[in-house]
Amino acid sequence: MADNFSLNDALPASGNPNPQGWPGAWGNQPAGGGGYPGASYPGAYPGQAPPSAYPGQAPPSAYPGQAPPSAYPGQAPPGAYPGFTTPAYPGPNAPGAYPGQPGGPGAYPGAGPTGVPTGPLTVPHDLAFPGGVMPRMLITITGTVKSKANGIVLNFKRGNDIAFHFNPRFNEDNKRVIVCNSMMNGSWGREERQPVFPFESGKPFKIQVLVESDHFKVAVNDAHLLQYNHRMTNLKEISAANISGDVDLTSASYSMI
Ligand code: GAL
Repeated sequence: MADNFSLNDALPASGNPNPQGWPGAWGNQPAGGGGYPGASYPGAYPGQAPPSAYPGQAPPSAYPGQAPPSAYPGQAPPGAYPGFTTPAYPGPNAPGAYPGQPGGPGAYPGAGPTGVPTGPLTVPHDLAFPGGVMPRMLITITGTVKSKANGIVLNFKRGNDIAFHFNPRFNEDNKRVIVCNSMMNGSWGREERQPVFPFESGKPFKIQVLVESDHFKVAVNDAHLLQYNHRMTNLKEISAANISGDVDLTSASYSMI
């Protein structure tokens, strides 16, 4: 397909066997690995000290009682955040690692080149795109589906219209289905339905939406799910994504890949 060709052509070869063309750097990883671009965790969680708070200090003796000695100061213990494993400390030069750095803690969620997971978020949640969306923009949303969930809604908004409505329904006539659509001038268009349903009540999830020139491409838990052709082609006017429904949200961010 021409779209996949142009995307993959622009990215480093990865040996990615994914026929849908998700770049191997982030689209084909084990769920929960946290290794996708934009997963810059240091400093993002309450109580976690930013790396720069301890310039040049040797970790082992500086923080009595800290275990193990090899842990970086302030690094959250693995497994502390349900839904993904805390990744290894990515190094002091990791984007977003320092307060005040573009995209670092303190910026609004999703700001800057990496986006920073921000801990529990209120639902509904708005993620703003000040310049709209554009090809190669990757939006990542993580959280946990509530128990006995009925539905999740992710809306990419253009003013009062909805450029892309992504709506997993857990019980539509006793079936699970993902309904996608657009709302133009207040009216819903033709639905595109996807029976593949990767969400589970009570379980963590990661939704990645990659903006490409002709479509949005959606992966859930690192597996390609669907594509949705742009119906509203003025991508610069798609200035926010809103997530609502039966989820607890952990992070909502974006990055360029
Ligand atoms: C409607 C529903 C909306 C939206 C739409 C998508 O039936 O009320 O919330 O999901 O379908 O086509």
